[in-house]
Amino acid sequence: MAEAIIEVSQLTKQFKGKTAVRKVEFKIGKGEIFGLIGQNGAGKSTLLKMIAGLISPTSGEIKLFDRPVKDNHPYFERIGVLIENPGLYPHHTAYENLELIAISYGLTNRKEHINKLLKLVGLEGSNKTKVKNYSMGMKQRLGIAAALIGSPDVLILDEPINGLDPQGISEIRNMILELNKTGMTIIISSHILEELSKVATQYAIVHQGEIIEHHSREQLLLQCEDRIEIEVDKASSAVPILEQKLHINHYKVISERVVYVYDAHLENQHIIKTLVESGITVHSIIKHKQSLEQYFLARIESEGGSRD
Ligand SMILES: Nc1ncnc2c1ncn2[C@@H]1O[C@H](COP(=O)(O)OP(=O)(O)OP(=O)(O)O)[C@@H](O)[C@H]1O
Ligand SMILES: [Mg+2]
Repeated sequence: MAEAIIEVSQLTKQFKGKTAVRKVEFKIGKGEIFGLIGQNGAGKSTLLKMIAGLISPTSGEIKLFDRPVKDNHPYFERIGVLIENPGLYPHHTAYENLELIAISYGLTNRKEHINKLLKLVGLEGSNKTKVKNYSMGMKQRLGIAAALIGSPDVLILDEPINGLDPQGISEIRNMILELNKTGMTIIISSHILEELSKVATQYAIVHQGEIIEHHSREQLLLQCEDRIEIEVDKASSAVPILEQKLHINHYKVISERVVYVYDAHLENQHIIKTLVESGITVHSIIKHKQSLEQYFLARIESEGGSRD
């Protein structure tokens, strides 16, 4: 992994006896897009708020840029945050909103910087409209621009695609990829794994406050590749070949012509060649992929139970 920019260990947050985040551990390398997936109430926002320095942990440690974090740590200035509702002034325009934030950051040369950000988030054309008249997507974009005011090294976006239409989702996704190309590390949460799968390089599934799985993109896609479906002339003739020549033990005969093989890492070509060389006619062979959403739900269900 590239240099770890964020590292959390044993991170825990309790609210009056309710554990919202429990002993969470992970590292995020520089330049990664870290996707946090979890259902409503899983603990995503609480976890992100702790990393952003908005609330303090009950126990555990957060390191930013290899240094332990204390309250008001200056390193928090290197983090841009959009968590839950962006705090926008409804009676001001987008430009004015960003200017107020820029002033609070003590930025000079604000005009050029703000116009650049408005262009980046696709709001450059709406300069006279007050934010109270914005659509949800426009507010979300402005929230992202606000998070970028301080030119952060790390951008935290809590459910940035919530409530957006497909075009808005795709635009935000492209924006995230563009920002990432500049070397920015991005943490993004969602309750839809499929959406994150188009951008994230790392995936952590959070359930009832715990990280129950953490995968690279490659590992996640591999997890979803769960079986090979083979259709032959006669399944009973194919089975001995699968067992003896391909050493496959994990299979299921579905019908007279169809066999499912669960050693999904085997190459289709290799299976076809071996079967054909043994005189078996292969009609079709397909790798069946579980959808990411099915996978996510199956993982959550297998964890089950409710904790305090
Ligand atoms: N300030 C608080 N006081 C008490 N309980 C809280 C507080 N903030 C969060 N919680 C609880 O902690 C748990 C995790 O909440 P959190 O907001 O982190 O979940 P989430 O994954 O962001 O959910 P969502 O997808 O709905 O945004 C929930 O049970 C919630 O009720
Ligand atoms: Mg939340």
